[in-house]
Amino acid sequence: MKKIAPSILNADLSNLSQQIRYVEIGGADWIHCDIMDGQFVPNITFGPPVVKAVKNSTRLPVDVHLMIENAEKYLESFVENGADILTVHQEAQVHLNRTLTRIKELGIKAGVSVNPSTPVYTLHEVLELVDLILIMTVNPGFGGQSFIESTLRKVEQLSALRERNGYKFLIETDGGISKENILSVSNAGCDVFVVGSAIFKSDNISATTTELKNLVNTIIV
Ligand code: DX5
Ligand code: ZN
Repeated sequence: MKKIAPSILNADLSNLSQQIRYVEIGGADWIHCDIMDGQFVPNITFGPPVVKAVKNSTRLPVDVHLMIENAEKYLESFVENGADILTVHQEAQVHLNRTLTRIKELGIKAGVSVNPSTPVYTLHEVLELVDLILIMTVNPGFGGQSFIESTLRKVEQLSALRERNGYKFLIETDGGISKENILSVSNAGCDVFVVGSAIFKSDNISATTTELKNLVNTIIV
């Protein structure tokens, strides 16, 4: 089954547990937390305390996306506060193998993310190590941006590499995903879809979540 990972970046954070309930009712699979430090990306969001609040509000896996410098300094803190998946950016990691190895030593899933202009080949040396590869389909930092079409070929490249070599990683996309484009992203080989504003800014959070999930899990015979 393909998965929907609503990003709380654009949720009503003053009613976080209620917003999480709505996406759970809609069939969400993961809860995606966008951590931003104002250094790696031009925005600041939240840290471990909010991840803890999310963890206390759901039984779904908490998928933490670290858009921060020096992520290696905070791994233990995010794990202690409930992260089930920790994804770091290839562009922000001098010692990527060491950081990914450390995440796995902490007993959770390790992910790596690349920005739209970062080629897939920069990940070649960690494809066997990672559990998840997050392809940014917008320039990171803000929700509500437009999907960057050229990133689709990166999903296709990764999917072909996985097929050819029997890698086990999941492919996740993040940014500008909506009803209009989710099928083409799914057909390119994406397994997990981070969706923020298309869900939380919609008229019916639960129904939109269900609609997106059905779109990517409907087998057309
Ligand atoms: C960008 C964020 C967003 C967010 C999804 O740094 O990672 O992509 O999760 O936001 P939408 O779905 O509104 O683009
Ligand atoms: Zn994200």
